[in-house]
Amino acid sequence: MQNFIFLIDRFDGTNSWRQRYEFPHKPGMTVLTCLIHIKENLDPTLNFTASCRSAICGACAVRVNGNALLACDTMVDDLREQWGDGPLTVSPLGNAEVISDLVVKWDEKVNRLRLANPGLHAKKEFSAHEGCRQAPQDMQAIQKQWDCILCGSCMSECNKLSDSSKDFLEPFTYTHAARYAEDSRSRNPLEHMENMEKSGMWKCLHCMECVTKCPKGISPAGAIASLRELAFKAGHTDGPGPRHADAFRTDLENTGRLNEVKLVPRTEGMVSAATKRLPFTLRMFARGKLGPVEAARLFVADNHRVEDHDGLKRILKANRK
Ligand code: SF4
Ligand code: SF4
Ligand code: FES
Repeated sequence: MQNFIFLIDRFDGTNSWRQRYEFPHKPGMTVLTCLIHIKENLDPTLNFTASCRSAICGACAVRVNGNALLACDTMVDDLREQWGDGPLTVSPLGNAEVISDLVVKWDEKVNRLRLANPGLHAKKEFSAHEGCRQAPQDMQAIQKQWDCILCGSCMSECNKLSDSSKDFLEPFTYTHAARYAEDSRSRNPLEHMENMEKSGMWKCLHCMECVTKCPKGISPAGAIASLRELAFKAGHTDGPGPRHADAFRTDLENTGRLNEVKLVPRTEGMVSAATKRLPFTLRMFARGKLGPVEAARLFVADNHRVEDHDGLKRILKANRK
């Protein structure tokens, strides 16, 4: 079997470089045991974090070939099956400030997590004597989200966060907000949701990178969807986010087809859509991306229902319950 070759992105606080390490293949090595091997035998200056070595603490998450994973829970032979026997590039988590080599800064992330108001604030009916009992089905509804180990893999690959962290939080923050907001013992679900509404939950791009990268099989995108549902149920239907979701649903209920021309004014309001989007629309016309026939077709598309639209309506109706 060929040697392992790791290309590791290094950073010493000032300079960045990519360093090559080559060492003999041993079956059963994880990414973390390789990093430890490098540190103990080849280069004591290499910095990374790890603790439990059992996929519990979340400290060892790194990116390999651009995909976040838990170093202690990933066999290098499995990666080779996926990527071939060539070099593996190991980098620090994305969407985070790098302190040194593979070590990233968590202070700001933890502060932002506090916006979810984490912690169970139980209803008054629970007594100190009996504690907070919960029916098994209520516990199962939030059980998956309890598995979050704050490894940051979802954050690393979140496309919305890469675009801007000013109007969006780390995906795991929404997971934690949903976990408490949906807890049947919670005194006031809205106290976990309020800041999420202000901090981007309507701006998720639905790219699903957080879902595919979570080593615990959690869906932060699903948590965002749950929070949005809670917002609707609480009557928080104003603003571009809720209006956009409502416009989607209306199109699905009417025809099953998305009418993108109408979606914009429904989301942003006629005046805003006309002033903000008109120049863009005119540029599309000017460059031949949109012609009068296509535009007219989009406006009358409501009349053309998708095949088995009644089936779709039944799904939507079931989903409302
Ligand atoms: S689905 Fe949303 S939260 Fe998840 S990675 Fe994509 S943009 Fe981020
Ligand atoms: S949701 Fe998953 S990927 Fe994100 S921090 Fe928690 S365990 Fe890690
Ligand atoms: S070392 Fe704790 S999760 Fe990997």
